[in-house]
Amino acid sequence: MVKYEPEVFLHGGDYNPDQWLDYPEILEKDIALMQQAHVNAVSLGIFSWALLEKEEGVYDFSWMDRIVERLTEAGIGIILATPSGARPAWLAQKYPEVLRCNERFVRQHFGRRHNHCLTSPVYREKVRAMDTALAQHYGRHTGVKLWHIGNEFGGYCYCPLCADAFREFLKEKYGTLDALNARWWTGFWSQRYTAWAQIEPPSSEGQDSNPSMMLDWRRFETEQCRSFIAMERDAVQSVNPDIPVTINLMEGFLDYDYFALQEAVDVVSWDSYPEWGSGDDVATAASTAFYHDLMRSMKSQPFLLMESTPSQVNWKPHNKLKRPGMHMLASLQSVAHGSQSVLMFQWRKGRGGAEAFHGAVVSHDGRSDTRVFRDVEAVGETLQKIPEILSATVKARACVIYDYENRWALEGVEAAQKGHMQYLETVMSMHRALWEKGVSVDVRDMREETDLSDYSLVVAPLLFMFRNGFEDKLRVFVEKGGTLLMTYFSGIVDGDRLTFLGDAPHGLTEVLGLRAEEIDALYPQDQNTCVLSDGTCCTVRELCEIPRDVTAQVIGRYGNDFYAGLPCLTVHSYGKGRAWYLGAKLSQTDLMRVMERVCGETDLAAAWNTPLPYGVIASRRGDYVFLQNFSGREQKIECSGTFRDIVNGQCVTDTCMLPVNGIMILKKA
Ligand code: GLA
Ligand code: ZN
Repeated sequence: MVKYEPEVFLHGGDYNPDQWLDYPEILEKDIALMQQAHVNAVSLGIFSWALLEKEEGVYDFSWMDRIVERLTEAGIGIILATPSGARPAWLAQKYPEVLRCNERFVRQHFGRRHNHCLTSPVYREKVRAMDTALAQHYGRHTGVKLWHIGNEFGGYCYCPLCADAFREFLKEKYGTLDALNARWWTGFWSQRYTAWAQIEPPSSEGQDSNPSMMLDWRRFETEQCRSFIAMERDAVQSVNPDIPVTINLMEGFLDYDYFALQEAVDVVSWDSYPEWGSGDDVATAASTAFYHDLMRSMKSQPFLLMESTPSQVNWKPHNKLKRPGMHMLASLQSVAHGSQSVLMFQWRKGRGGAEAFHGAVVSHDGRSDTRVFRDVEAVGETLQKIPEILSATVKARACVIYDYENRWALEGVEAAQKGHMQYLETVMSMHRALWEKGVSVDVRDMREETDLSDYSLVVAPLLFMFRNGFEDKLRVFVEKGGTLLMTYFSGIVDGDRLTFLGDAPHGLTEVLGLRAEEIDALYPQDQNTCVLSDGTCCTVRELCEIPRDVTAQVIGRYGNDFYAGLPCLTVHSYGKGRAWYLGAKLSQTDLMRVMERVCGETDLAAAWNTPLPYGVIASRRGDYVFLQNFSGREQKIECSGTFRDIVNGQCVTDTCMLPVNGIMILKKA
């Protein structure tokens, strides 16, 4: 792995001069405008394959050379992309195998992007050759700072080549069909396989009801993507191994296990498009904060914000403009969570194509005296004023467990709330409860390398699957003095999605001081209550688990139904630590109250030690506290002590005002 340590915060974004080669005056203007906007980094060539290789094997870098030289002379660093995110028409025409087959096993035609088979040896070879040529041409260029591999990898292919590769993957994993039949529980519905060739990719056209198989398919697709990225990485680093590589990840993504993918690259970056102004900016900020924390946690190192819009997107049903202040607030929110960049899609709006109306720093009017341009300029200026933050790191002593394989296992699970267990939402609601308190949070998964020993709080909601012996890690964590918060529907299946035999949560009943016997799924119109020992009452909906043999201390009991009086919230001492168990789904407000109690038993420090108004969030990065106002109204903040506002240099004591969408970066004076 190459260490990636930018010398300054990167500011800039996707630059598509290939759309403007017939407009030399525009290309000329771009550089001056970029300098005005304090742009110091651009991603180049993401979708340039058709121009770089107009004919098979004939590479033409001349147009890109001119751009690269101009940028470099202007001191603008280049994030050079491999163009594998979209293939040229000639390639699809000559080698149809490079195109994907969809879930109905139908070969796709040329068109769109991200529409190619990652297994196809022809596709791999053509990409490798293209990347190698790029590396030979630019691999030693001082202007090239980082490689951007492909673009937003995603999706599955169901072609015969992929089906074959899937079978090979299974042979490697299971060795024999007997072993596969046992782990896939094929005794059910007469699914037993007697030849490898009988196995096809899971599809709604055929085998779509074997959850163990589905898990393996997703693992296989992750591995195809990981090895594809590794192939590209090796090609671009073949000339100069010192330039790091990244891939741009997405939010909410389900297709691949990102924790596994990131192993192929040196630095993680992601594309963030929150729906600001859609009703509840605090909720939007909470979910964005979760993804920033996830991306930082993947490599336990700072990440890059690779894309964000300077104003609006064009692909949502309602493409609202960012309100005044929001571009600064959202950009610096990423910095608060560990980003080393504020990069945007896109520098300039094209004249045609699907994204001609997507927000850009420069619009069709070509002006720099617009609201959006000025907002971008201001962010660039601010980033220049805070170089000291670049080396400051976010140190979290709390983590939430978010595991892609567990999400796959829960997705569509035919149990309790069928297909609606809301795993990601539940993880995010737990994260939010800590984020609102100003507690820094990491996001960890159940890979073998996950180490919990630095945390004082581990929150592990809805951990339906335990893989790699994760229950032992949780047990040891509590034994050594950690505080654990678990919920309903945990420790039920193993890594192949076979249920454990015996009491649930598997391996942790002694730690939690109870066993979970049944889970009740409420109709949407139903509710129950959890009555806390101090008399307060929380409303619970959707899921209510019924624990038995409870030796844990009971903090809350169900208020209604045949399980009224049975425990719903408990805590149990085990070794030197404490294990909390929440049996039912709470509202966000009630979850905050529970989290308050749980955190009260830990030594977790909040970023700000006087109470903040709702919607004002404090996040800490090193010695710097970012106060962020997502509340939609001006807010008065109480300060305990004297701070320095590191953007404007002023001192802040006693109180200060945060405007709507305001943000301040403070350091204790
Ligand atoms: C994604 C892509 C970009 C662009 C933006 C538009 O993030 O990576 O190429 O299409 O969306 O928001
Ligand atoms: Zn394929």
